[in-house]
Amino acid sequence: TLLLGVMGDPIGHSKSPAMHNIALEASGIPGMYVPLHVKPEQLGEAVAGTKALGFSGFNVTIPHKVEMMKLMDELDESAICCGAVNTVVIKDGKLKGYNTDGIGYVRSLKEELNSELSGKHITILGAGGAARGVVYALLREEPASVTIINRTVDKAEQLATEFSHDTLQVQSGSYDTLDKVLPQTDILINTTSIGMSPNNEETPLEQSQIPEGIVVSDLIYNPLETRFLREAKSRGCTVVGGLGMFVYQGAYAYEYWTGQSAPVSVMRSALLEAMN
Ligand code: ATR
Repeated sequence: TLLLGVMGDPIGHSKSPAMHNIALEASGIPGMYVPLHVKPEQLGEAVAGTKALGFSGFNVTIPHKVEMMKLMDELDESAICCGAVNTVVIKDGKLKGYNTDGIGYVRSLKEELNSELSGKHITILGAGGAARGVVYALLREEPASVTIINRTVDKAEQLATEFSHDTLQVQSGSYDTLDKVLPQTDILINTTSIGMSPNNEETPLEQSQIPEGIVVSDLIYNPLETRFLREAKSRGCTVVGGLGMFVYQGAYAYEYWTGQSAPVSVMRSALLEAMN
């Protein structure tokens, strides 16, 4: 029996157990995915405990994603680049840390657009932890350009410098530079927390600033449609919400643990149901 779980503090609100337990059941894999309430001061003991108990792996959520880096025997490139671990695989008594958030988001974006991202001009709002994962994953898709816009411009610059490589110079700027950047943008992605939580009507851009007919995406999945996406829709944009990111970060984790492809549509319905 596969033992899996998710460590966080708090953890009661997590939708991951519902999503993964249904996935295991749908695939006929005997297993159980449990919420693990772990306080920061007991993280080390809790991680050691999963090994002792024979867990095959676990997810990591707030506030443990960065601290988890130090507790791994091995780190995947995704975790190193993001500086955070959201998925742990336990094999032969060794812990390997991954980060599936950014690659999960990019997989959902490609899936929902039914299109590759190569050659696209992509603009990202925000330069925090979420943006880092997304930039990491986007750069593997050979976009034509990536521009990071942030309120604190230093953080955007830092991220851009860190991820720039020989073939692609990542750009950065303040919201004031958007007048120049947006006319060149094919895909605009909000990674900031603006508009998070239901009934929140804040939005990162004025409706009139949103270019007509481009792709606009928001990592936020609660609400399912932020004001930003609603207004983008009314500007004739194709919109992609954040639910798919949650589904696919879980799908990657599931695939690492089980070696089987994840039943994505079952996971999506379970997640939607758990949100109601
Ligand atoms: P996460 O891990 O979710 O990305 P984070 O690392 O705290 O969280 O980053 C939050 C992002 O949202 C940052 O880019 C932040 O901008 P600053 O770096 O300038 O703080 C952005 N953000 C949050 N509230 C904002 C606001 N009211 N206006 C503009 N940007 C905001």
